[in-house]
Amino acid sequence: MGSASIVSAAARRLQGKVALITGGAGSIGECAARLFSKHGAKVLIADIKDDLGESVCEDISSSSSSANGCSYVHCDVTKEKDIENAVNTAVSQYGKLDIMFNNAGIVDEAKPNILDNDQAEFERILSVNLVGAFLGTKHAARVMKPAGRGSIISTASVCGVIGGVTSHAYTSSKHGVVGLMKNTAVELGRFGIRVNSVSPYAVSSPMAKGFLKLDDDGMSGIYSNLSGAVLKPEDVAEAALYLGSDESKCVSGHNLVVDGGFTIVNEGLCMFGKSE
Ligand SMILES: NC(=O)c1ccc[n+]([C@@H]2O[C@H](COP(=O)([O-])OP(=O)(O)OC[C@H]3O[C@@H](n4cnc5c(N)ncnc54)[C@H](O)[C@@H]3O)[C@@H](O)[C@H]2O)c1
Repeated sequence: MGSASIVSAAARRLQGKVALITGGAGSIGECAARLFSKHGAKVLIADIKDDLGESVCEDISSSSSSANGCSYVHCDVTKEKDIENAVNTAVSQYGKLDIMFNNAGIVDEAKPNILDNDQAEFERILSVNLVGAFLGTKHAARVMKPAGRGSIISTASVCGVIGGVTSHAYTSSKHGVVGLMKNTAVELGRFGIRVNSVSPYAVSSPMAKGFLKLDDDGMSGIYSNLSGAVLKPEDVAEAALYLGSDESKCVSGHNLVVDGGFTIVNEGLCMFGKSE
C-alpha cells in the first residue's frame, strides 16, 4: 500500500461504521451526515421532512468522496414505532448500528413570562427533544447490546448546562438530555456502549435565527467568549464525529460543550473585562 492510500484510509475515521442520524435533514444533522459519510460511514438519515431528507441523501450518495451508502427513513422521534423502525432499517439495510446520533430538536417561541407558557407547548418541546432522545437511546441500545459495542450521541445545548438563554421548555428538555445521557452511560457501559452528548452554543441555523430573530450577520455578532470564532453546524458535526469515532473509545458520560467558552465565565464578575 502506498503512503498516499495509508493517509487517506487513516483519514476516514468512521470507515465501515453505520450511523443513524435523527433530524438529519436539518442544519447540524445534514452536516453530520455529510461528514460521517466522508469519513467512510454508511448513513441513515431520519427526519419528518421527507423531501429534504431524501434530496440530502441523493446528494451524499452521488458525491464521489462519500459513496458508501446513504439512505433516508421517515421517522417522527416522538413515536416509538418510528424510532424502532428506523433502527431496524439501519440493521436490515447495513447489517448493524454503530452510531446513534439523537439530534432532532425543536425550539418554542420566546415567552419570558412563565404565566404565558402553556402546558401543551411545554410538553411538545419535551416530547421531541427529550422523549425523542430517550426512544433513540433505548432502541439503539436494543441492537447495540448484543453487539457489545456502540456509540450513542445526543445533541443537547448550552441550555442543558446553564439557565436563562432560552425558554423554560427548551432549557428543561436539554438539561433532561444531559441527565439521560449520564444515566444511560452508567447503565450501558457494561455492554461496551458509550453514551455522550454534544452541547452547542448558538449555531446559525433556521432554528436559532428564528428564535433569536437574527439573520446571519446578526448571528455572527452575538456574544462569544472566543474572539473571531463563529460557530457553524460543521463545528458541531466535527464534535459528533469525534464522539462517534474510535478516537473517543475511552470517553463516555461526557457532555462535550462546543461554545467557545460561553458557559465558563460569568460576565457579571470577571477580572478580565468583557469579551468583544
Ligand atoms: N441551532 C442552534 O443554535 C442550536 C444550539 C444548540 C443545540 N441545538 C440543537 O441541535 C439540534 C439540531 O438543530 P438544528 O440547529 O440543526 O435545527 P434545524 O431546525 O435545522 O434541524 C432540526 C431537524 O430536526 C427535525 N425534526 C423536528 N422535529 C422532529 C421530529 N418529531 N422527528 C424527527 N425529526 C424532527 C427537523 O425536521 C429538522 O430537520 C437540535 O436538537 C437543537 O436543539 C441547536
